[in-house]
Amino acid sequence: MNSLITFGPVNNAAKAPPEKPTRYTTNHHHMFKEKILIIGAGGQIGSVLTDALRSVYGTDQVIASDLRPLPDSGGPTEVLNALDGEALNALVTRHNINQIYHLAAILSATGEKDPLWAWNINMTSLFNVLEVARNKGIKKVYYPSSIAVFGREANHYDTPQHEVLIPETVYGISKVAGENWANYYFRRYGTDVRSLRYPGIIGYQSMPGGGTTDYAVDIYHFAVRNKHFECFLRDNTSLPMLYMPDAIRATIELMEAAADKITIRTSYNLAGMSFTPAEIYASIQKICPEFTISYKPDFRQKIADSWPASIDDSQARRDWGWKPEFDLDAMSADMIKNLRLQLEAGG
Ligand SMILES: NC(=O)c1ccc[n+]([C@@H]2O[C@H](COP(=O)([O-])OP(=O)(O)OC[C@H]3O[C@@H](n4cnc5c(N)ncnc54)[C@H](O)[C@@H]3O)[C@@H](O)[C@H]2O)c1
Repeated sequence: MNSLITFGPVNNAAKAPPEKPTRYTTNHHHMFKEKILIIGAGGQIGSVLTDALRSVYGTDQVIASDLRPLPDSGGPTEVLNALDGEALNALVTRHNINQIYHLAAILSATGEKDPLWAWNINMTSLFNVLEVARNKGIKKVYYPSSIAVFGREANHYDTPQHEVLIPETVYGISKVAGENWANYYFRRYGTDVRSLRYPGIIGYQSMPGGGTTDYAVDIYHFAVRNKHFECFLRDNTSLPMLYMPDAIRATIELMEAAADKITIRTSYNLAGMSFTPAEIYASIQKICPEFTISYKPDFRQKIADSWPASIDDSQARRDWGWKPEFDLDAMSADMIKNLRLQLEAGG
């Protein structure tokens, strides 16, 4: 039986629910049978995904974990360093975990400050997850990849699924390696690992964690406060982006898809929209006409220049019916409305 599930914003950041919550269908009989561990649940995506997964599978079925204690989100939480394989094993046993969402990572811009440190965290944590999944018979693992897997040799526009992967950041190198390890565990051990190459994710519920697309979140926070915004990318830098409700829905739809529909076991290309800083500024200006911007590119410009401007996600559309809902103007309207509500509530 299919039931319509709705979910709103996370408790720790957002003060007011969106008018029209994101909706999707799921199999009702899954509820209360799954026991899900989220690693890196305190981050930009994890904090929103925690609420979404709880509304699908039941509050107590989803254990949110991070390096440090998480703010109260109404459900079970744990402190877990994903570099500690023994602690991960013990936690999986203690809670009878049968699905893992592994979101912990050092992102593109932060990783460049200390490449070997970033590589170690991104790879060791993944190996710990893949090993516990293999050894304890975890049913499904989610591991996000990124458009950072592509480098300048890749086609810049409508970058295809099967493209040359020569990333220029340590983050991108770790994601290419991670995708291939996911594929290896699936082929060799049958571990059901699923993955999406997220573009830049934009949401009002949480702040980004050190990526190259962070400006596209920050800009809205400046706009609703009518503060001048200095952009760290050039005005004409086009990058693929996705609004948070679409990103969350894509993740859950991929994880709910029948295993035989998943033909890509490295990671799926995923797209929502593409825009430049000048275009997002123009979109915001339609709602906030006084808002001003200037451009001061820093080291992140070079990273952005090596990434695609747009992504061909037709494989995800074909295999499991992916379709984004939000374009740039719809996202701007929803972001600004919700950030204004947060501001009014004192956030
Ligand atoms: N946000 C985006 O635009 C974007 C784009 C592409 C891919 N992704 C991927 O999605 C995932 C989540 O991204 P995010 O933006 O939420 O990142 P984030 O930086 O906001 O959150 C990551 C979380 O992981 C935690 N963490 C770091 N090291 C840890 C460790 N050793 N053990 C346990 N937890 C640890 C951090 O405390 C943080 O809360 C990452 O794998 C990232 O590469 C994100």
